[in-house]
Amino acid sequence: MQYDFNRILDRTRERSKTWDFRTLRPGQLPMNGAETHFACPVPVREAVQAVAEWEVYGYPYFTEDFSNAAASWMQRRHGWDCNPRWVEFVSGIVPGIAFAVQAVSQPGDKILINTPAYDPFRSMVEANDRVLTESPLVIGEDGVFFDWEDMERRFSDPLTKAFILCDPHNPTGKNCTEAELCRISRLSEKYGVLVIVDEVHADFVFYGRHISYPTVSDWARNNSVVVINPSKTFNVAGFRTGAVIVPNEELRAYINKKILAVKGISRTITGVAAFEACYDGRCDDYADQVCAYIYDNEQYLAAFLKERIPEIRLIRPDACFVCWLDCRGLGFTEQSQLMEFFTNAGVLVTSGEEFDRTGMGEGFVRMAYGFPRSQLKEALERLAAAAKEIRK
Ligand SMILES: Cc1ncc(COP(=O)(O)O)c(C=O)c1O
Repeated sequence: MQYDFNRILDRTRERSKTWDFRTLRPGQLPMNGAETHFACPVPVREAVQAVAEWEVYGYPYFTEDFSNAAASWMQRRHGWDCNPRWVEFVSGIVPGIAFAVQAVSQPGDKILINTPAYDPFRSMVEANDRVLTESPLVIGEDGVFFDWEDMERRFSDPLTKAFILCDPHNPTGKNCTEAELCRISRLSEKYGVLVIVDEVHADFVFYGRHISYPTVSDWARNNSVVVINPSKTFNVAGFRTGAVIVPNEELRAYINKKILAVKGISRTITGVAAFEACYDGRCDDYADQVCAYIYDNEQYLAAFLKERIPEIRLIRPDACFVCWLDCRGLGFTEQSQLMEFFTNAGVLVTSGEEFDRTGMGEGFVRMAYGFPRSQLKEALERLAAAAKEIRK
């Protein structure tokens, strides 16, 4: 099926956090929400409608279709020979990571992340009484890199029990290379640190393909947890689904115990129906097309900024539909002035400070660009006009 991603949707009927018309000013474009703005695939809507047709919504039983769908997606799309037995339902990426953190660490232990970081990693770690240890990524002219010396220092701390790897990375759009993943696997083995991989953005990779961390070595497979969710790719975040994939049987038992401890298997009949439709092969055409559309958006965005707003430097992403913009060239001395610049132009973005506590987010913003092209163009034209004003 051919999907039309140029279509602008009516968002007024939903209770969308991004399109919250209780707070959005008329005409504002919310490029701050980490979601796309496209209709979800037809098979998902059909699957959910079929459930809605049932006359009763009583206690459900679930089948192996859920795990089979998740495993088949990883096999077909990410070249990982994933076994359905390794898959367990969770109600979102962060809950899945939290169960893994609880399984391998105690209060007071350290959990490693990279900065800038998706902030719920921080709040979840802290709410679990674990201590954050943050290794800054190096934002270079030609890409985003790990600081290996700093990473090793943090891995080698005996209190560090787990590393949350966000791959592809929100907000920078970095997609790890095989060499990087191998190096992480060697560090994990040397210091006995579990690697928990958030692959929620893995279906939007522009160059080559995404490599699932567990495929890079036997150690990586046996000492990692991968968390996936069709929420981003298919715009179905509202169903609150997700899956943790844990090849190591012993570790899986620990994680399942944590899930059981809070009776955390909060599957819903509609969520499971949507998840299965996304991943079991019915929506592969959509995934190909949406990734190609986002890639074209990125090319458009990059060319536009270079030509029309050179004060804003796009950190070229390898993946994702969010990007990290270096806005220091606009010359604002305060982050609040930078945020006002965007808001006054009618374009809502997320402040770089929300991704970092060390100051490296100052002068940066994260922009989501998974919009119909006409809306992306409109946003960029507004920013170009605003930039022209401040050049005067
Ligand atoms: C890196 C990352 N992980 C997790 C999530 C949220 O995942 P979920 O849809 O499972 O709530 C987001 C959403 O912004 C994200 O960017």
